[in-house]
Amino acid sequence: MAPGSWLLYLSQQVGEKGQVVGVDIVDLRIDLPQNTTFILKNVLDEDWLDLAVLKEKYNLVVSDMAPSTTGIHFKDVADSLELSHRALEIVQAVLVKGGHFVCKIFEGEGVSGFVKLVEQYFEKVKRYHPQAVRKGSKEFYLVAKNYQL
Ligand SMILES: C[S@@+](CC[C@H](N)C(=O)[O-])C[C@H]1O[C@@H](n2cnc3c(N)ncnc32)[C@H](O)[C@@H]1O
Repeated sequence: MAPGSWLLYLSQQVGEKGQVVGVDIVDLRIDLPQNTTFILKNVLDEDWLDLAVLKEKYNLVVSDMAPSTTGIHFKDVADSLELSHRALEIVQAVLVKGGHFVCKIFEGEGVSGFVKLVEQYFEKVKRYHPQAVRKGSKEFYLVAKNYQL
C-alpha cells in the first residue's frame, strides 16, 4: 500500500487536538492534515534514535511496516521481524505507560518469540487477522494493550 493511508485514518481518529507522526522510507504523495507530521526515514538507520519526534511521548504506536518481499519466505519473514523489533524499540522510547501498540508481522519462524517478548511489556496481546488481508496471506496484526513500563 502506498504510504499515508494509515496516517490519514489516524489523524481523523485523534481529531484536531491530537498529534500524529508518521515515518516511512518512501515519500508521501498526499497532503496531510495539520495535526499530522511526516518524516522520510529508514527506521533501520543507525541514527534512528536521533529523531526529534522520539523525544516526545505518545499514546499509541502503530507499525504497518513491511519489507519489499523477495518471494523467499524465510528472508521476507526475517526482514519483517527486523522491522517489528525496531518498532518495539520505538515503543520503548516513546510510548506512555498504559499506551497501546499495533504491529503488522509476516507469520513464520521467530514470530512466536517476538510475540512472547511483546507479552512481557503489555497486559493484553492478541493476534488479529483482518478480513481485508487477502486470502492465503500470512500477515497479521499484533494488538498489544496497556504498556507496562
Ligand atoms: C504495506 S505498506 C504500508 C503502508 C501504510 N499502510 C500506510 O498507510 O502508510 C509498508 C510500508 O512500510 C514501509 N517501510 C518498509 N521498510 C521501511 C523502513 N526500513 N523504514 C521505514 N518504512 C519502511 C514501506 O515503504 C511501506 O510504505
